[in-house]
Parts: sequence; structure tokens; C-alpha cells
Amino acid sequence: MRIRTFEEYQSAYDQSVSDPEGFWAEVAQDFEWKKPWKKVLDWNFEEPNVKWFVGGKMNITENCLDRHVREKPNHPAIIWEPNDPSDDTATLTYKMLFERVCQFANVLKKHGVVKGDRVCIYMPMIPELAIAVLACARVGAIHSVVFGGFSAQSIADRINDAGCKVVITTDGSVRGPKQIPMKDTVDDALIGCPTVEKVIVSTRTRTPVSMIKGRDIWWEEEVKHVSSECPAEEMDAEDPLFILYTSGSTGKPKGVVHTCGGYMVYTAYTFENVFQYEPGDVYFCTADIGWITGHSYIVYGPLLRGAISVLFEGIPTYPDAGRFWDIIDKHKVNIFYTAPTAIRSLMGFGPEYFKNKDLSSLKVLGSVGEPINEEAWNWYNENIGKGNCPIVDTWWQTETAGIMISPLAHITKTKPSFATLPLPGVQPVLVDENGQEIQGNGVNGNLCIKFPWPGIIRTTWGDHDRCRTTYFSTYKNMYFTGDGCMRDEDGYYRITGRVDDVINVSGHRIGTAEVENAINMHTGVVESAVVGYPHDIKGQGIYAYVICEASSHDSELTRKDILATVSRIIGPIAKPDKIQFVSGLPKTRSGKIMRRILRKVAEGDFNNLGDISTLLDPGVVEDIKAGAIK
Ligand code: WTA
Repeated sequence: MRIRTFEEYQSAYDQSVSDPEGFWAEVAQDFEWKKPWKKVLDWNFEEPNVKWFVGGKMNITENCLDRHVREKPNHPAIIWEPNDPSDDTATLTYKMLFERVCQFANVLKKHGVVKGDRVCIYMPMIPELAIAVLACARVGAIHSVVFGGFSAQSIADRINDAGCKVVITTDGSVRGPKQIPMKDTVDDALIGCPTVEKVIVSTRTRTPVSMIKGRDIWWEEEVKHVSSECPAEEMDAEDPLFILYTSGSTGKPKGVVHTCGGYMVYTAYTFENVFQYEPGDVYFCTADIGWITGHSYIVYGPLLRGAISVLFEGIPTYPDAGRFWDIIDKHKVNIFYTAPTAIRSLMGFGPEYFKNKDLSSLKVLGSVGEPINEEAWNWYNENIGKGNCPIVDTWWQTETAGIMISPLAHITKTKPSFATLPLPGVQPVLVDENGQEIQGNGVNGNLCIKFPWPGIIRTTWGDHDRCRTTYFSTYKNMYFTGDGCMRDEDGYYRITGRVDDVINVSGHRIGTAEVENAINMHTGVVESAVVGYPHDIKGQGIYAYVICEASSHDSELTRKDILATVSRIIGPIAKPDKIQFVSGLPKTRSGKIMRRILRKVAEGDFNNLGDISTLLDPGVVEDIKAGAIK
């Protein structure tokens, strides 16, 4: 169901609201189902209980692979661009990818992986990562991909929460000039993971690794002994496809669960319509498969549509800050999708890195993960898109599976830093503090969605009530996104940022509570409070206020020690940018930390702290202001 004009968008949108079941049934016709569904949608937001394509049977990999292998076996599916530009690019056609997925699926089966088992994948951006993901889906195992930047402790937490039976990893990885020991990190994690029976290790760096007899096996050795045919497991539309852990305002990261049928329909539909993908286009998304953007828009969405998806192993600044533009020229990329952080950081390197690049293959530019400021939007538009490529500023979340509010390329009129209009099937509402819907245009509020779409989160793994309380209890009968939003006079949506205790650092979601817990584990730390503050490149930085025992003297060293602890507990991405040692925190008489004050001080805005008279000890505010880190 391809939209080609703004009028078609409007009529698709209207139909999706007046007859959602009819609308999505028509979209879903476009896929191969082993058995048709009996009912399109069953739902309530109280429990919540949302089911799409009830009773339908399918396997997402048949739609990603088998059908394209029949139609165009030698068409490229994945173009792999290695970290080092002088190393060879690898192109996997649909047939090659299909065979390698089937082979690896047989390896999983041989080692006892069956439908419903959980498999943890901790790998760098190499083709084997996409193959591992699809092989899990082929056999009906639920994959839980953990981003390669997380620590052993974070991996262990995720493995244990999901009860993973198998871990798939790589000896090591290369990112820019650095080599990273992945298997070593997995080994550290596995000290505390009793459910793991097998570890499958692919080779990337050929660094020495310890291989435990009976547990650890080599990918390359295993695939030699299995067939490259593997029938796809029949999955119910509502069987889980994957778990992806994401941070919220409280506690440990939660495992967001997506299911096979709705996820398939939603990612494919949004991919082709938002980017207006045409057969043969080369599409390059710079995300990591360890995040939802990589799941939905490097692997599943593009492959479902038979697209050519570029998978890039490296970083934007290696060997220099022109790498993205070199890749675009080398592979004649037509559609380029990246994050505002990357754009802002590359802006800072100056024009010599992009001025001599051709970039004429580009047709569409995308942005995702955080609000894009006007300066970055304009720079991207003028210097990369040469004023000819629409920017699709795509707003969505791990929980939504796919893009929710975005322009359709060349169809929706764009406006700098606006995600513009909801996609068909998406019914956004703005609500006030009391949960009242705010009508009309030119308004601000908390962003909710009042009707299910096929990609909506189904549950949080192992704790359904957490799903209910986090997303469906703040406002009755609505999914609450955690984002603030404005709707301007034209009815265009602009996402203003999180309204909860989640910080968005370089497009990575980090919960303040998580960082506090990690800091509090450091010896000598009595208490801490973490807030976000505006950061020129990262969007938001992490500012930590820490109370230490009197005996901790050398604050510079303590600061470094705390960073080491946070890296160890969560991963380097969660390291605070600023740590201020304080003697007290601004608390109310009931003991609640007034984060509003801490946020203002972190922003450097000392004059608008608001009412501090309800504090137990208003004096601490002066001390905090005096010691604030610029
Ligand atoms: C933010 C990433 C503004 C938002 C796909 C959301 C955005 C969180 C945009 C989800 C955008 C994502 N404009 N903000 N275009 N896209 N966000 O789960 O705060 O990693 O709630 O999913 O990123 O982050 P997540």
C-alpha cells in the first residue's frame, strides 16, 4: 500500500481512523501468511492486551528472504562496509543471505534451540549480526540483541532477565582505531548466568579468546556441518519476535516485547512510505542493530521490502570526519538515515570534510533518535542534501517498533525541527497534567496515542504489570510516550523532549535512576542525583550531584573512580559528563529530591529555581549553586 501523493496520504489517514481494521487488513495482504488471521484486532488498554492479526500464522523471514529469493535471487540485500575503508566491501545477495541464515538456523537447532527459547546476541556491525537475528526468527527463537557498548554487568542482567539459553558473540570488534574484546566481556558476564548453555563465537579480529569446552563453539566451524536449507517455523502473529531492553524513569531497563505479525506489517509499511523507497535504491541507516532503529530500519523493514541495506561497521570520524560522505559516494546511496548527534558532531569538523564529495546520488535524508535543532536541520539540508532532499524527521520509540510521526519523503511539506504529521494508523493526542485531551492547534502537552497500531509494545518481558504502569496507567485508555510535544497552527507536531526521568544522550536513552544506582555502588558514595542538561553535540549530557563520605578527599581521583564504576556497571555510554560533589541534595520534607532545582542549576539557569521554601534545608541550594560546574 504505497502512498504517492499528499491526497493519498490524507485519504489513507482518514481510512485508518474510520476503519482501522479494514485499513491494516489491506496493508497486511501484501505479505505471505501461512494461515490467514481470523480477526484483525483485539484490544484494550487497561490490562493492556493488544493482539493484531489474531490467529494468523507466518514467519517473518519468509517475507524478508524466501519471497525475494524466488523473485530476484541475485539482487543485493546487504552491502557491508567495513571499519577500515581499504578493506573489502561485502555484498550479500538475497540468495546468499537466505542460505547463510538457513545454515545458521540449523546450527541453532543442532544445539537445542527451539521456538520460544531466548537467545542473546552481542556482536559488532558485521553481516553475522543480521544473520544471527534472522536465524533466530527462522527457528522461532526470541532474540535479545544487546548493544556492543554495554558492560558485562549489563549483559548479565539482560541475559538473566530473559533467561537466555544461548549467546552469540564475536571474538573482538573494531571501531575506528580501537579493537574491542567482545568475547572477554561476554565471559565476564557469564560468570553469573546459569541459564546459558552454549556460546557461539564468530571470528572478526582473530584475537586470542578463551573457549570453554562443552560451552563455547566457533561459528565458522559449526556452519560447515549443516545444510543450507531450513524450513521456517510456523509462528503465530502474536508469538514474540524479540525482546529489546530500554531504559525508563525507574529501576533497571525493561525488556520491550514485539510480536511477529504486527511488527512485520508495521516496519515494512513505514519503511516504504516514509522513505519512499523505490526498487534498486541504496539505503543507508547509520544506527547500530543493537538499538531499535537498527532492528526495524537496517534489518527487518528494508529486507521485508526487498531493499538494499548498507550495514556499516565503523564510526563517522574514522579515518576522518568525511567517512559517511565517502560511503554515500562509494555505494551511490540514495537514502541516508542518521541521528542529529552525528550531524552536529560532523558540522563541527568544518567544510573540508564534505565540500569535495559528490553526494548527487542522494534523494532522501532522515533523522531519528532525538529532537533535531534548526541549525543542524539547515546544515544537513544545505550541505548534504544540497537543498534537493527532503529531511524526514522521524519520531518514534523502542516501544512503538516503527516510525509514528514523520513527513513522507517528497510528499509532506517539511518544516525545520518538526516531525510534522502522524502516519496512517497513528492517533496522537496531547494531554494536560490532569489527563484532559488538549484540542485545537497552537498547543503544548504530553504526547499520548489513543488507538493501537500494529507495532505497539505488547508487554515487558516477565513483568506485564510494569508495562501497564509505565505506559498505560498515567492516562486512562491511552499509551503514554514520555515525550512532551507541541502542535503548531498547521497541526504539525514538534517533539520537545522527555518529560520523565529519561535522558537522551547522543540519541541513547539512559534512565537517571540507572546512573544513580551505578554511582551509588561506588565505595564512599552516600547518595547521588542525576539530571540531564543541554549539550551542544550530544543533545543532552549527564550531570551528577554526588554526596561522598567525609573520608573521600581527592575529588579528581574520586571523580575518575566513579566514572570507572559507571562504565563497569552500565557501560561507557552512561558516564556522567559532569560530577559535582555536594554536601546535601535539595529535598522536600517528605524526602523527595527536587530535581527541578538540580536541572536548572545544571543548565546554568540560577535565576529561575522557583519556590524553594518547601525544602527541608533551603541552604543546600546556595552551596550547590556555588559549586556548579560550567
Ligand atoms: C526521542 C529511538 C525528537 C524521544 C527510535 C523518544 C525523538 C525517544 C525523535 C525514543 C525525533 C526519537 N524527534 N525526539 N525525531 N526520535 N526521539 O526508544 O524522546 O531509543 O521518546 O527510540 O527518543 O528513543 P528510543
